[in-house]
Amino acid sequence: MISSFLVILLVSFSESSSSRVLELGDRFLDVRSEGMWFVKFYAPYCGYCKKLEPVWNLVAQSLYNTNIRVGKVDCTRFKSVCHAFEIQGYPTVIFIRGHHEYIFNGERTKEELVHFAMRMSGPPVQQVTRSESFEILKANNPVFFVYVGKQQGILWEYYYMASEANQQFAYFYATNSEIGGKHFIIDSSPVVLVYKENTHYIFPFSDAYDDVEPTALNNSMHTWIVQEKFLTFPKITRENLHQLRQTRKYLVIVVVEENKLNELETHEQEFRDMVEQLVRTKRSKYHDQFQFGWTGMPDLAHTIAMQHLPTPHLIVLNSTTNHHHMPDDDPLQMTPEALEIFLDTISNQTANIYGGDHFSVRVYRAFFEIRRLIRDMWRGNPILCFILFIVPFGFFMIILYSIFCADIMDAEENDDDHEKKE
Ligand SMILES: *[C@@H]1O[C@H](CO)[C@@H](O)[C@H](O)[C@H]1NC(C)=O
Ligand SMILES: *[C@@H]1O[C@H](CO)[C@@H](O)[C@H](O)[C@H]1NC(C)=O
Ligand SMILES: *[C@@H]1O[C@H](CO)[C@@H](O)[C@H](O)[C@H]1NC(C)=O
Repeated sequence: MISSFLVILLVSFSESSSSRVLELGDRFLDVRSEGMWFVKFYAPYCGYCKKLEPVWNLVAQSLYNTNIRVGKVDCTRFKSVCHAFEIQGYPTVIFIRGHHEYIFNGERTKEELVHFAMRMSGPPVQQVTRSESFEILKANNPVFFVYVGKQQGILWEYYYMASEANQQFAYFYATNSEIGGKHFIIDSSPVVLVYKENTHYIFPFSDAYDDVEPTALNNSMHTWIVQEKFLTFPKITRENLHQLRQTRKYLVIVVVEENKLNELETHEQEFRDMVEQLVRTKRSKYHDQFQFGWTGMPDLAHTIAMQHLPTPHLIVLNSTTNHHHMPDDDPLQMTPEALEIFLDTISNQTANIYGGDHFSVRVYRAFFEIRRLIRDMWRGNPILCFILFIVPFGFFMIILYSIFCADIMDAEENDDDHEKKE
């Protein structure tokens, strides 16, 4: 009670009465560990922050009747707060519960943000006690993990630990073998499985968990969850790219360009569908080595390739070495067979290799990124960008001019001197 009163005193509410978003300032640091917070750290000039603004208001609206408080921190005004949370880029969205902080890595839509906050506000493993609940879960959630059976022993322990470590990224449930048996094909229990897009896959060591060495079981569980938490053909964004790379697989990325309404041109759509069709029909061939996906932001692929790619395009990232591969042919001309051959050459390591993590490549990539950031800033706030970059550049040019054209001025001065002497 006292703490919520404090919050009202310490935190000034947003100017517009229609917004449910709390504007947080320096004093937020005193109350951050009290209760649950969902906070956006932003800078007024950043383009992506502006895009998030209306979405964030909707998020606050949706979470208004929960015990999660939704706030925002302007990092240009409250640097100390953003420093305390080690904010690296804008916008950053963090869920804060007690002394734990969880960074949101998903796509910044209202649904994803609200789902994330709701998930983080509950326990890492949620108990399913009614059979009908799974129907609702399946309808609302394309991927989730389930533990079926008695909640004891090392399989349960490791499942629980893995759920704590991955609560940010996935849903974890537990149920008894009676309810589990109605929804999933299982031979024995306990068993761990992942439900994915209308089907399910059993954790390979579920059956033999008694025979597997505990550390090995734990490691396999973690690796399996990291790899299985993605859809078969997810949308790739800057936010989830890092997570996708943790799969340690080759990332096969279809690069297309979405317009403002998230639509694609027909030939891009067709290319994307062709690749998706391949991965869906040949899942078992590619699953161990490849993770497929697509991105509607060519920028992301440009960062990887460090060059401008026409769309649609295909780029394959080696997630351990950061090297990448691209087909030699125009991707639009590729047939499914040509695509398969291309993936085979990657798999047998005969494909051309580009990029990587070499120092010179990293420097080049950094320049490429800075250019991108400036462009993003320009879109967000051209005037500020003008003052920050163009004006100094103008001064710089004047200085250059005065250095290189100095002899002309000197000459004139000398002439003046002559005149005076005469
Ligand atoms: C299980 O594996 C995870 C990730 O590899 C690790 O963080 C955790 O400490 C391990 N736990 C045990 C009990 O070995
Ligand atoms: C990436 O490249 C390394 C070195 O060439 C190779 O050993 C590894 O299998 C490749 N694939 C993935 C998915 O990391
Ligand atoms: C690698 O795969 C390609 C495509 O299937 C094939 O043509 C090539 O002979 C293979 N190379 C090796 C060394 O296996």
